[in-house]
Amino acid sequence: MHDALRQARDEALARIGRASTLEELEQARVACLGRSGALKCLMQRLAGLPPEERRAAGQLANEAKAAIEDALAARRGVLGSARTQAARPALDITVPGRCRAIGHEHPLRQAEAELREVFARLGFEAVEGPEVELEYYNFEALNIPAEHPSHDSFDTFYVEGDMLLRSHTSPVQIRVMEQRRPPIRVVVPGRVFRPDTPDATHSPVFHQIEGLVIGEDVTFADLKGVLAMAMRELFGPQTETRFRPSFFPFTEPSAEVDVCCDIGGERRWLELLGAGMVHPKVLEAVGYDAERYTGFAFGMGIDRVALLKYGIPDIRLLLENDLRFLEQF
Ligand code: DAH
Repeated sequence: MHDALRQARDEALARIGRASTLEELEQARVACLGRSGALKCLMQRLAGLPPEERRAAGQLANEAKAAIEDALAARRGVLGSARTQAARPALDITVPGRCRAIGHEHPLRQAEAELREVFARLGFEAVEGPEVELEYYNFEALNIPAEHPSHDSFDTFYVEGDMLLRSHTSPVQIRVMEQRRPPIRVVVPGRVFRPDTPDATHSPVFHQIEGLVIGEDVTFADLKGVLAMAMRELFGPQTETRFRPSFFPFTEPSAEVDVCCDIGGERRWLELLGAGMVHPKVLEAVGYDAERYTGFAFGMGIDRVALLKYGIPDIRLLLENDLRFLEQF
């Protein structure tokens, strides 16, 4: 009886070890522990043994059964995890990787970069200034009197006390002049803010690029030459510029500059920037000798330039972050 039990156990363990699928493992279990399995049959025969033999054989039979159940459980674990791995799609290392979409510069940034480049070739250094500005820099130092409408909260975002979101990049003229001595030749690209209701040509946030040149013997002819050349660089060699008399508190004389260029096959004049000779009061505000130094300044909308260059009909398109639009540039 003992030999028969050991044999049944060893055969069962061997068969469990050989099982290479969960189905084969189940067959091994049935062959041994099933209702008519080898070990089960032997155990049924234990009852007919004499009592002294039955005890030892019963113990051996229970040990054999426990060993087989342990082996079954262990093998089931191995085959089970192998099956879940097989169920996964095979790893094919030759499949081309998934490309991540790489973004590109926003059309506004492209226009800004081109402006920086054009003016860099004309000898201008690009500098930046704070978006939250003091009233003094945004207005007073630029000779904008307290009663001027642009001071009004309808025209300016006040933050707190005498701090506001700058309404133009012109305050950086003052900051630069305070920090440096002439000769000065800088452009200042940046974001500006005005509480305008958005429409096709207005946005409460837009971008400007300011220009400032200060030196001895800087004249209006220099201003005209620099801007005419910059506009040709920007919009093509056929581009013409036109200066119309205008008024800004911080320049005298002042001009609005129109540009004539081809837009969609049509030649049109468009107002693009303000400019002028830096007002002596502005030079005096930063302690410059207005008898010795002169200079010119200009300011233009970068958004405007982007609309013109890329034929975009509505400024709001630039700010909505709609990828279907942005991907075209
Ligand atoms: N700061 C003016 C504006 O936002 C634009 C401007 C006009 C800038 C004339 C200048 C200038 O530097 O000379 O409307």
